[in-house]
Formats: sequence, C-alpha cells, structure tokens
Amino acid sequence: MKPHTANEVLAAQPGSPKQVISAKAERFTESVIREMTRQAQQYGAINLAQGFPNFPAPAEIKRAAQEAIAADVNQYAITWGAKRLRDAIARQAKHWQGLEVDPESDVTVCCGSTETMIASLLAVTNPGDEIIIFEPFYENYGPDAILSGAQPRFVKLRPPSDPAGEWTFDPRELRDAFNRRTKAIILNTPNNPTGKVFAQAELELIRDLCVEFDALAITDEIYEHILYDGSKHISIARLEGMRERSITINSMSKTYSVTGWRVGWAIAPAPLTNSIRKVHDFLTVGAPAPLQEAAVAALGLPESYYVQLADGYKRRRDLLYESLVAAGFSAYRPRGAYYIMTDISAFGFRSDAEFAKYLVKEIGVAAVPGSSFYADPVSGARQIRFAFCKTEDTLKQAAQRLAALKKPQR
Ligand SMILES: Cc1ncc(COP(=O)(O)O)c(C=O)c1O
Repeated sequence: MKPHTANEVLAAQPGSPKQVISAKAERFTESVIREMTRQAQQYGAINLAQGFPNFPAPAEIKRAAQEAIAADVNQYAITWGAKRLRDAIARQAKHWQGLEVDPESDVTVCCGSTETMIASLLAVTNPGDEIIIFEPFYENYGPDAILSGAQPRFVKLRPPSDPAGEWTFDPRELRDAFNRRTKAIILNTPNNPTGKVFAQAELELIRDLCVEFDALAITDEIYEHILYDGSKHISIARLEGMRERSITINSMSKTYSVTGWRVGWAIAPAPLTNSIRKVHDFLTVGAPAPLQEAAVAALGLPESYYVQLADGYKRRRDLLYESLVAAGFSAYRPRGAYYIMTDISAFGFRSDAEFAKYLVKEIGVAAVPGSSFYADPVSGARQIRFAFCKTEDTLKQAAQRLAALKKPQR
C-alpha cells in the first residue's frame, strides 16, 4: 500500500490546515540512517548504522574548543568563516592536493558538509537543471537535489563480481546521463556506502564530460584521509580544466571524529564562492565560532595523526570484514571511508528492510537497509550497509552477535 503523504494525513484530521506541506517536502522521507540510530537505542542494539565514531576526539582539539569558549569566542564569526580557519583550509588544500586556494575569495565555512552541499546546490541550480548522482549514494544527495529544485539523474555504480574487486560504472551510461540541462555531477570519493575510491582515469573521464557539457563537479571528500590498501585520494579540482568548475566540499566530522561539531567548508573559484556565501549567510549565518577555532588546531595536527587515523580504521575494517564474512555475508571490501556494503542474498529474507529489522531486534546490531542508498528501493533490496567507526571492543561484541546468524534460529 502506498504510504500516506503528509497532506493526506492532514486532510483526514478535522480542524487541521489543508495542503500546507510543500510538494518538495512530500517528495522525500526522513533519513533512514538516522531512523536506524533511533531503533538501535530502542532495542539496545550495537549501532553500526550511522557513521559517527564512539571513541574520543583528539585531546588537543577538544582543549582548543574549551579554550576558545573560555576566551569568549562566542559571537558570530565572519559569515563565510573565521580568517584563521580559511587560511588553514587553504594551506591544507595546497599540502594534500596541490590546490592553489585564495582564502579571501575561494573558501566558505558552513555547518558541516551537509549544509555546504545544499548551499552549493542552491547557489548554482535553477528549476529544470539536472544533477547527476552515482548510486548507491549517500542518502542526503537525493533530497538535496529536490530541495534545490533540480532533477536528480542517477548513474549506477555496479558491485564487483568478486567481493574483493572494485565497484565500477559504465562510461556509456555516464555519457548518456549528461545533456544540455546537466548543471553538475555530485561525486563522493572516497565513497559512502561502497568504499570506492575513484581512480585518476575515472576522474579524467568525468572531467572530459564536465568540460564537454559545461557542467560543474560538486565533490564530497569528507573521507579523504580514510584510505586502505595503498589507495590514493585525488580531488577532481586538481585535474586540468577542473579548478574553475569544481566545488570541493570537506568537513571536520570524519577526519577528526567530531560529527556533532558541524564545521565543514567549500573550496570553489570566486564567482561560485560569492554565490555559495550568499546562500550560506541566509541559511545559517555561520558555523559555530569556538569550534572554528578548534578546527584551526585540528588542521594543524602533524601528518602522523592522519597515518594513525588510517591505520586505526584499517584494523577496524579488517575486524568487521572478517566477522561479516564469517557470519555468512558477501561483503565488499572498501578501499576508503568507513562502511562495508554487503550482499544479503544468502540469508533468504524477503527484503533488506525485513533483514535490517531482524538484525536490530533479534541479533542486536543496527545496520542500514541498502534500499536507502538507491532512487528505486528495489535496486538495494539485497544489500545492507555496516559502519565500522567504532572501537575495536564494540566491533568484537558486534561480531559475537552476528555469529548468531549462522545458527538455525529462525
Ligand atoms: C558522504 C557523506 N557526506 C556528508 C556526510 C555528513 O557530513 P557532515 O557531518 O560534515 O555534515 C556524511 C555523513 O555520514 C557522509 O557519509
């Protein structure tokens, strides 16, 4: 049965206002990922659903946040970001990706990469524009495209036949998605939920299409430092011809384990930045001022911090990967980010949603149904995503619980 729309629910309630819910808001549902976190709490399950760490953030950056509040950095920062932070962002972009960034004209600090993405889309799209999105995709991009009035067009990332292989896209399918209405392609590398890290040749292909169709690349690079097996992160903005047509988005959330701080940023050429800054100003005015100061400390951490971050995540990846395989999943080995996408066909459930419900209620582990990463839920009906941004202890406990899947108990 088709679920009732909010307008239909209101219409059935005497005395309620009628038809007040916008057509845009009617076109998408609440976040399934965040709903799974609520279910994890309800059933006392281990939360491998939502991507937030359950281990502490670096002591030095917490101290920097406390000191900033104590020093009364408690009022609005400059709308597009405190100067010290924009300077640090520009330095880091040069250091890691060789990008020349003018902190005065090319950087906008927002409330997490979430606000940065919607501010960027609102800044560049008009009704009728199309946005290309690889699917499976981080679930915000669909609603982001709708809220900005653009039409999303999805291009499939296909799982490898051998779970240790790479997710790939069909270059012809990608070319077919581009047309004169294409305003931008959203690119997320390292990728959530697949763990794919886009290779130079793939980025060059995307670059060629962006140039040919005069489209932008809006890239979500928040997992740039979480890489395995020698994978290298490449910002598409680095490729010849792309600096002028890229909006490069990043955030503190994942690199510094502070998803609740809500500090992210966009790097884009001045004309795009001007527009993003205007939208951002009227959406939120600015990101939290004391936490912007702490972000300066974070971006100043030594290179050894990033090595340890990736090493720690590699241990967690291997731990969860092995326990998933032992429990009977076909698990795709990620090259970056901190998620494992799995195929659940072997378990014989009717759908991903039914299996996710069973996992959270009976096994005590929350994961995200694959359908929430696809425009057409059927495409993800045999998949489930697990997050491993948790302590090794938590992952070992989850492994013990998952082992029960092997036992004939249903
Ligand atoms: C690909 C991707 N982009 C953005 C976000 C949200 O990031 P932020 O906390 O910076 O808003 C997430 C969170 O899981 C994510 O996986």
